[in-house]
Amino acid sequence: FTPQTLAGKRVIVTAGGTRERLDPVRFLTNDSSGKMGYAVATAAKQAGADVTLITASTKLTAPAGVTVVPIQSTTDLSEAVLAAFPQADALVMAAAVADFQPDVTADQKIKKTADNDELILKLKKTPDILKQVAAIKQPGQVTVGFAAETQNLLANGQKKLVSKSLDLLAANDVSRADIGFNGDDNQVTFIAPNGVTDQTPKTSKTMIARALVDRVAQLLAEK
Ligand code: PMT
Repeated sequence: FTPQTLAGKRVIVTAGGTRERLDPVRFLTNDSSGKMGYAVATAAKQAGADVTLITASTKLTAPAGVTVVPIQSTTDLSEAVLAAFPQADALVMAAAVADFQPDVTADQKIKKTADNDELILKLKKTPDILKQVAAIKQPGQVTVGFAAETQNLLANGQKKLVSKSLDLLAANDVSRADIGFNGDDNQVTFIAPNGVTDQTPKTSKTMIARALVDRVAQLLAEK
């Protein structure tokens, strides 16, 4: 990890799990703690970047000197990313984004009634933020995604890299309890557009984030 490799660069990092509201007191979400994204924001800041951290609700304290944009839903996240991206040099999407959201959000708390033994929820697809970004991406900009997989890590990661027009993808196995969601450690396979893959050892999210930031700096230098 080399300090100052991102000096003068503007980097957006997303973190945490989005919340899709069913009603004023309930939401659908996932297991993301935000640790991976916060580690990337910290490493990018240490590398000298001007960092914007767009974060779904987490219990974490943001690193000092970083601009924090709090969001809740995938729709909020999409709006915040699309507003910031035109001014950015790089975007790292570590947030765990819902693929589906409730078709309608009830204005009032959904009540159980005596004649209602089941409740059927209708969900609709969320916007794919990285695909939206791909449509406005300029040649000098770098985009990095994560892939949270429970099977076929490499094949699914490669598909996401291509479909989202990414410069780099970090695939992690979220079926394992010791890496991925929540814990302090992770292990990722970096996948490049030329098909080259590189698996990190299992190590702290801090070290994974530093390796990722080094790669972002390298990619920006090559653009
Ligand atoms: O937060 P932690 O507890 O530390 O856990 C870290 C992590 C497991 C959440 C993180 O390492 C991770 O894998 N983040 C990506 C989670 C995810 O949404 O993966 P995905 O395979 O569903 O999506 C692929 C990529 O597309 C991701 O970069 C995601 O941010 C992005 N995406 C997904 C859906 C959507 N509608 N729009 C998107 O842009």
